[in-house]
Amino acid sequence: MAFPVVDTEYLKEIDKARRDLRALIALKNCAPIMLRLAWHDAGTYDVSTKTGGPNGSIRNEEEYTHGSNSGLKIAIDFCEEVKVKHPKITYADLYQLAGVVAVEVTGGPTIDFVPGRKDSNICPKEGRLPNAKKGAPHLRDIFYRMGLSDKDIVALSGGHTLGRAHPERSGFDGPWTNEPLKFDNSYFLELLKGESEGLLKLPTDMALLDDPEFRRYVELYAKDEDAFFIDYAESHKKLSELGFTPA
Ligand code: HEM
Repeated sequence: MAFPVVDTEYLKEIDKARRDLRALIALKNCAPIMLRLAWHDAGTYDVSTKTGGPNGSIRNEEEYTHGSNSGLKIAIDFCEEVKVKHPKITYADLYQLAGVVAVEVTGGPTIDFVPGRKDSNICPKEGRLPNAKKGAPHLRDIFYRMGLSDKDIVALSGGHTLGRAHPERSGFDGPWTNEPLKFDNSYFLELLKGESEGLLKLPTDMALLDDPEFRRYVELYAKDEDAFFIDYAESHKKLSELGFTPA
C-alpha cells in the first residue's frame, strides 16, 4: 500500500492529538457524535468519480448544514479545540482519528490509523449519505457507491451501539442499546430481540433483518462479539481510508 508519507514530526503530533482526543472525549462524553462526524465526512465518497470521502470537507458550512449532518457542528467545534493545539494535522486526519479514538475509549476494537489525508474545500452535493427511512436496496446503492460491501454495511451499522437519535436533529428519538456509551455487540442482540421499550430501530436497521445476506452477519455478530470486533475494525479502517489508498 502506497500511503502518502508523513514525517516523524507529524507522527508525533498525531500521538499528542490522540491523547488530547481521549481526554476531550472523556470530559465531554462525546464519543458517539465524534464517531458520527468521522463517518459523515468519509461516507460521501464516490468510488466512480473519486469525489467526497474523508477529506475534512464537512468542516465547511456548506456541508455541515446538510440535513443529514444536523448536530455535527458540535463535534466539529470539539475537534477545533484539538486542531488549534496541533495545527499541522489536517482536518481530514483529525476527524478520522477522533472516530478511531471514540471507538477505542468506549471499549471497542483497536482500529489501525494511518495518517496522511489531505484537506479539501470541495463539498459534495447533499444526498450522498443514507436515508434512514429507506430499505436494503438503498443501503446497497449508497455503500456500493463508496466501494463497500454487504459485510461492511452490517459491521458498520454496529456503530449504532454508540449514541442516540435526537428528535431535533433527525426526527428520530432514543438510543439503540441500554448502554449507549459502551461499544459492544448489543446493537445486534437488540436488533434480533425485536421491539424494546425505549430503544430505537430505524427502518435501515430493520432492513438488516429482512435481507438474508445482511441477516447472516447480524446473527453472527450477535452470537460472536469477537467476530464483530474483527470485522468492524476492518470495515471502519476501509471507511476511514476511502479514496486514500491508490485505486
Ligand atoms: C446516529 C442514520 C450508519 C454512527 C444516527 C442517527 C440517524 C442515523 C438517523 C440519529 C442522528 C440524531 O438524531 O442525532 C444512519 C443510517 C445509516 C447509519 C441510515 C446507514 C447504515 C452509521 C454508521 C456509523 C454510524 C456506518 C458509524 C460507523 C452513528 C452514531 C450515532 C448515529 C455513533 C449517534 C450520534 C449521537 O449520539 O449523537 N445515525 N446511520 N451510523 N450514527 Fe448512524
